[in-house]
Amino acid sequence: MKNNIFLLALILLITGCSQERNSALNIIPMPQSYQLQNKLYKLAPSPTFSIIADEATKSNLAEYIKSVYPAASIVENGGNISLQISDATEQTSPEGYIVTTNEDGIIASSSSEAGLFYALQTINQCIVNEGGMPYGRIVDEPRFAYRGMMLDVSRHFFDKDFVIKQIDALARYKINRLHLHLTDAAGWRIEIKKYPRLTQFAAWRGAATWKEWWNNGREYVEEGSANAHGGYYTQDDIREIVAYAQKRHITIIPEIEMPAHSEEVLTAYPELSCTHEPYKQADFCVGNEKTFEFLENVLSEVIELFPSEYIHIGGDEAEKKSWPTCPLCQKRMKEEGLKDVDELQSYLIQRIEKFVNSKGRQIIGWDEILDGGLAPNATVMSWRGTEGGLAAAKAGHKAIMSPGTFCYLDQYQDAPHTLPEAIGGYLPLKKVYSYDPIPQEFSEEEAKFIHGVQGNIWAEYIPTPEHMEMMAYPRILAIAEVGWSNPEVKCYDNFRNRALTAVEYLKEKGYNPFDLVNETGNRPEAEYPVEHLAIGKKVTYSEDAPYHDGYAAGKDTTLVDGIFGGWNNNDGIWQGFIKGGIDVVIDLEKETPITSVSAAFMQICNPWIFMPCEVTISASNDNKEYKELTKIVHEVVKDDALTFKHFGWEGETQARYIRYQAKSSSEGGWLFTDEIVIK
Ligand code: ACM
Repeated sequence: MKNNIFLLALILLITGCSQERNSALNIIPMPQSYQLQNKLYKLAPSPTFSIIADEATKSNLAEYIKSVYPAASIVENGGNISLQISDATEQTSPEGYIVTTNEDGIIASSSSEAGLFYALQTINQCIVNEGGMPYGRIVDEPRFAYRGMMLDVSRHFFDKDFVIKQIDALARYKINRLHLHLTDAAGWRIEIKKYPRLTQFAAWRGAATWKEWWNNGREYVEEGSANAHGGYYTQDDIREIVAYAQKRHITIIPEIEMPAHSEEVLTAYPELSCTHEPYKQADFCVGNEKTFEFLENVLSEVIELFPSEYIHIGGDEAEKKSWPTCPLCQKRMKEEGLKDVDELQSYLIQRIEKFVNSKGRQIIGWDEILDGGLAPNATVMSWRGTEGGLAAAKAGHKAIMSPGTFCYLDQYQDAPHTLPEAIGGYLPLKKVYSYDPIPQEFSEEEAKFIHGVQGNIWAEYIPTPEHMEMMAYPRILAIAEVGWSNPEVKCYDNFRNRALTAVEYLKEKGYNPFDLVNETGNRPEAEYPVEHLAIGKKVTYSEDAPYHDGYAAGKDTTLVDGIFGGWNNNDGIWQGFIKGGIDVVIDLEKETPITSVSAAFMQICNPWIFMPCEVTISASNDNKEYKELTKIVHEVVKDDALTFKHFGWEGETQARYIRYQAKSSSEGGWLFTDEIVIK
């Protein structure tokens, strides 16, 4: 090598979070291993490519190359960039590739077209971000076979052109599955020839936004009505999307919800619900053979349109409320020996699985499909935490991990007051990036069943394409790296720098990513612990006002641990109370001079979390006789904002016990507080 002094010591095997190791490659996702020099191979303005492969691969890659490099020409051999199918690669995954670069050009090899496509993505990003391809060698393959994004096109409809635009960006970052949530109460989004009412009626509503529709009667209107909002993909649209995605090595996975989230179907075809009344039911009648006829007919058309191995059949959040009193459901349960409604749901899922399997496909379902018995060949998409994935893996089923706490990209990614309204929560880039789809409690054997990871973007509060892109980027790039790169090569600080570059690139290409460089960050109080008199002291909760098990945070010690919560009530630091308000006594162990007592509360009305309507703070030396220090009466005003407010007392007193009581407003709802600070 001529320029040995420039040789960078970028040898892979370095583990841990290493800014330096990764600083030579400004691409996402970070490759598994590379040895590079700081010399660049610069691509000519009219570059030449050769493709050594079968005719179909040649033609697909040539078409793609022309779309990215319009001035490129394809040559028989050599060229600036040579893409070669080769069995002599070192990888186990067909998506793996090797790129070698020197003064003669760039050679990429892989055992498959997908691997060459990913080599091209690596090269493309280097050329844009570095100005050329660094000399040396990259050896890369994905950690997980499934790296997905879910787009909810029901709550708000995003048209064909929008989907196609996203496919380009997702492919660049080596995402290989796009799951379309095509059906839900808010609108049916795919043309089904046998059931025209699904798109003449169930795809349209009288309100532009989900929120207006949800809060105002939730009605559907006829297609073409003056006030009709919504839309759907024609079967030709679907064919176009699928074909476009296929060429970019993205499989489109359709989701048809069952047995729940189906108000739109059961209003268009009320005979498929237990009561046969429009606008009344969310769940199909599982006792009625017509339900199976409908679902199988729909799935037959869907399977014709989507070549994906997987068909997602939903399965989440069934209320099952009409089934116990429905004569047909009861008859079905008796005849099939089903002991409860969970088993009735499982009957439906298993029967649908048989049908889907008979067409040569597999089902995926949300983790509720575990309830009542898992269908024999099903893959589970774990969303209510990781437990569903763990249970599936233990039972020898594949799991795709998309737990809400790391993968639900409909949450706020920055301080809520800086962003348009979202569903709630706080999921910044850093937290998405920190996710490891293989839970620590998994054995090596169980880990083999973790098929991959997916970021989900539910669209209740995402009414426009620009907003959807802002929610997706750059967080889906973190999912891309979680899904592709081994933990040893990940490093958040380095990733963030690369994400900043990606954000600029996406902006130039006409996307609307979140403005990462101006990120505000977490609630300032949450950044640092606070010292005060009550730290570590005993807290006694009144039996009439317990904290809720689902929001217990650090349980009995959490209100005096010195740690404040962030923007999200669900972060394991905020403690939630739903029954009896808050009534706690803190024992300072000895009579102590006190000058203030204070606690912060959070209000966010969508999930029914409110400020208290009254707070009483009292002091005692014997835990029997209490002196009231203050009683604060507060008018709870509902709004769309996430707000925080301290309720406290300041003065001078001397006491061993402090009692802090907070009452919920007359409407009920949650109270959330994170710390009772005594000074
Ligand atoms: C879900 O979020 N209901 C899968």
